[in-house]
Amino acid sequence: MYFIANWKMFGVLNTLNTLHKFIKFFRKFKKKRFAKIIYCPPNTLIRPMSKKLKNISIEVGAQNCHENENYGSFTGSVNSKMLKSVGAKYIILGHSENRQSGDTDKLINMKIKSALKANLKIIFCIGETISEKRKKATKRVLEKQIKLGLKSIKNKKQILIAYEPVWSIGSGIIPKNKDLSETVNFIKRKFKNNKVLYGGSVNSKNIDQLKLVKNIDGYLIGGASQDTKKFIDIIKKTYN
Ligand code: PGA
Repeated sequence: MYFIANWKMFGVLNTLNTLHKFIKFFRKFKKKRFAKIIYCPPNTLIRPMSKKLKNISIEVGAQNCHENENYGSFTGSVNSKMLKSVGAKYIILGHSENRQSGDTDKLINMKIKSALKANLKIIFCIGETISEKRKKATKRVLEKQIKLGLKSIKNKKQILIAYEPVWSIGSGIIPKNKDLSETVNFIKRKFKNNKVLYGGSVNSKNIDQLKLVKNIDGYLIGGASQDTKKFIDIIKKTYN
């Protein structure tokens, strides 16, 4: 199972002190060989965080990048090569917060290609909005996001899919188990061997319900991952 912490635009250098608690827990965690932990902090913390996690099997990822694989005159931007060079092994791409601020399917496709070239593993986010859900367009929307986002990418081995319904992110609302299981199956039918994760308001309370959806391979966790105790609780309860 994957447990991916998406810190979004939260955290300063001091915040990394909270990692000690997590490291302590994870060292002793009996089920650790079943759990893959990836922390995705803001870019400013990738380097110091990967140093802190050096001696433990926890990896670090980035949250977005510029689509250009080369260096260039793009003020304020960072490309995937640069993220790799400071310790990122993964990158979240296609997150709905970035889609909302202008990342089109085409741009996401370019970003994924550049990140694959830089040897990063991709956490590719897809998901429908509430109005699309109401129109029963979920499958059609996901299909389109997958088709365009992964266009002309042949080797999909390094790609994890994160199904994140937009209406669930940060809202405290999660899909019904039956719907979730069905959507995850739908996505899995399109990929032979890729892991499919769920994201959107995963917390230490609803994890007992979510873990009953057996075809999910892990979680992309925003808010609750910024609180070490809650993050630990989610992991523990998943295996209880
Ligand atoms: P949330 O965020 O857990 O705070 O809903 C999830 C995400 O945006 O990846």
